[in-house]
Amino acid sequence: MTTTGREPFPPAGVDLSRPSIARIYDYFLGGDANWEIDRQFADKLLDDFPILRPIARSNRLFLHRLVRYLTKQGIRQFVDLGSGVPTMGHAHEVAEQVAPGEVRVAYVDHEPVAVAHSRSLLRQYGDENRHTAIHADLRDPAGLWEKIAETGVIDLDQPVGLLMIAVLHIQQLPSPGSPPSEDLGPQLVETYRELLPRGSYLGISHVTDEGIPADFAAMLTRIKTMYDESGSPVIWRTAREIRELFGNFRIVDPGLVWTPEWHPDEATVTDERPQLDDVKQSIVLAGAARKE
Ligand SMILES: C[S@@+](CC[C@H](N)C(=O)[O-])C[C@H]1O[C@@H](n2cnc3c(N)ncnc32)[C@H](O)[C@@H]1O
Repeated sequence: MTTTGREPFPPAGVDLSRPSIARIYDYFLGGDANWEIDRQFADKLLDDFPILRPIARSNRLFLHRLVRYLTKQGIRQFVDLGSGVPTMGHAHEVAEQVAPGEVRVAYVDHEPVAVAHSRSLLRQYGDENRHTAIHADLRDPAGLWEKIAETGVIDLDQPVGLLMIAVLHIQQLPSPGSPPSEDLGPQLVETYRELLPRGSYLGISHVTDEGIPADFAAMLTRIKTMYDESGSPVIWRTAREIRELFGNFRIVDPGLVWTPEWHPDEATVTDERPQLDDVKQSIVLAGAARKE
């Protein structure tokens, strides 16, 4: 992977015929794991809505604070579903700061670029006994659980911090031309909740079009239209629908809130403050819950 500003060489299996959610998000975060087709798509949105950059960064910083918080609660293993490109620091780096040498992490994504970047980072700064990146589709929980177990990195009988951050608003096209299906939805999350042992936590962040500033509604409509037309459809859920994804898990304080509001006390001195005038501009609700 190059960082020289030239086009990076795509890993095997990368589809450059259409923009990819993982690579667009990487571009929003300022990374270089993206291609012309992703940047053209992202720039069309950024030209009109430059706030998408601070929104993406605010979400990623929530992920960091969540991992820091859960590690302090005693969680020593994380499974990060739809982990994306490690542009602003990966979960294991954050956990390492709190409990050096103790935390195990499995990253899962179906985008080859995200997995290749994660593996490259882990080769340099990871520990193969404690960190792994798996190329898999999270819509097959049983198959994925088997793959995770096979790595020997995660003990699935012990509490896990299961992260589903900015992934559940993505829909999937079962086959080209078919209508989008709500595969990354309540049923799938319920299956994961059942798989988790007691003492585990589930962390979720999700875009909503409810309760946002009035002038942001047009932005969300435009984003949805563009993603839907690009072959990566998305869906926005209400606060109630997002809360229901936690099932009967106990939602921890401060509850389901806008990303900047979730445990700001876990921010580090080096964390930036994304340029949002109002927390509602983050358009992403975030929370975590424990399986008692
Ligand atoms: C918006 S990014 C979020 C990345 C990271 N979780 C974060 O919040 O910073 C969504 C990620 O989910 C991945 N993803 C979407 N559908 C998936 C699926 N069915 N299986 C595995 N990964 C998926 C995408 O490839 C992308 O990397």
